[in-house]
Amino acid sequence: MTTPVELIEAKKRGRSLSEGEIAALVDGVVTGRMSEAQAAAFLMAVWFQGMSQEEVTGLTLAMARSGRMLDLSPLGFCVDKHSTGGVGDKTSLVVGPLVAAAGGTVVKMAGRGLGHTGGTVDKLEAIHGMRVDLSVEEMLDVASRVGLVISGQTEELVPADRVLYAIRDVTATVDSAPLVASSVMSKKLAAGAHGIVIDVKYGVGAFMASAAEARALGELMARIGTDAGRSMAVALSPMDDPLGCAAGNALEVAEAVRCLKNEGPADVTQLCLELSTRMLMLAGVASEADEGRKAAERALASGQALERLVRMVEAQGGDPGCVEEPDRLPAAPWRIPVRAQASGYVHQVDARQVGLACVAAGAGRERRSQAVDPAAGVLLRCRRGEEVRAGDVVAEVHASDRPRAERAASMVSAAFRIGAGRPRATDALVWL
Ligand code: URA
Repeated sequence: MTTPVELIEAKKRGRSLSEGEIAALVDGVVTGRMSEAQAAAFLMAVWFQGMSQEEVTGLTLAMARSGRMLDLSPLGFCVDKHSTGGVGDKTSLVVGPLVAAAGGTVVKMAGRGLGHTGGTVDKLEAIHGMRVDLSVEEMLDVASRVGLVISGQTEELVPADRVLYAIRDVTATVDSAPLVASSVMSKKLAAGAHGIVIDVKYGVGAFMASAAEARALGELMARIGTDAGRSMAVALSPMDDPLGCAAGNALEVAEAVRCLKNEGPADVTQLCLELSTRMLMLAGVASEADEGRKAAERALASGQALERLVRMVEAQGGDPGCVEEPDRLPAAPWRIPVRAQASGYVHQVDARQVGLACVAAGAGRERRSQAVDPAAGVLLRCRRGEEVRAGDVVAEVHASDRPRAERAASMVSAAFRIGAGRPRATDALVWL
């Protein structure tokens, strides 16, 4: 049998690993036969040498099979949607209810915030009483009653990713396409959805810097999913500026609710309708994009999507009043305005800076074990393309105390790039 040292040596020299070698690697990681130091060395070798498509598919399947694989077939065809991470990306809270209200079944296992990016589980926990630690059986029960469930990853799923992810996080090996693709797709495959929509983000606020890198990652994920027998649709979308006006957990839930009332920022609503359309097509609810789009728009305009979110929150133990009246969500005692430093047009609001400001305000984590402040975050009052005068309020920072609010406010101020002349519009979303 191949030893951990032999596997590291092979990858260090750029050799492709066989299916058996990859299975031995994943087994070693889960059983502890491969030490953390050895796993770290292996991951760094992958970062430098890359992996072939066959190796990434093999790694993903071996990781997915390291724990329980869910069988969602009793629920019929189920769809899921995943974003590779950004700032202000609350689309899961809108897309899930939209698709469920239009006739799809959505089963989503979501994650927590990572670095400067937010996570759906943290956002949902801003709703009083909301449970995001459902067992598999509870998830199936909620999905069968509501057509929609969003919960955190259960302990039984993909133990190999838990080990590898923790090591990647502290060894500067997160931003590797084969490692991101296998990490995301192993969880998607194990969670059982038959149709998967992936939104690969690129830009300063995302893990992939350029559209070309996002495309390579998207193609890798699409192939893994298709090879595993799933229906896939992959979008590439920009993340240079935050999505919408709100970043931070309760603030994003409130913005998602505004979107579901058809009163949200246009960029969030349009992205949600695009993603929902593809999910409805994968689910077979619509055969063409036009039909899917109309179904999603009807679910929005009729209020049925909002009602679906209320039902999901209720079924998961949360206070539906927080959705019906978002003023009941946690609110921060400190709110500090951020003023424009110059007159001109907003050329960019640096999404990464805003994400880091959210972490400084308490909305994200500086250490993995840290609790997040559900009320903390940033509300943008001005965005790319708008004209401002020096001294105008361009954003508001929410935090639990003054020092946090002030630190975050100076970061948000630095995030605003103001210049002469109108800036170019952001890239449009493209489907692979
Ligand atoms: N999200 C994941 O689950 N894994 C990664 O590697 C990156 C983002």
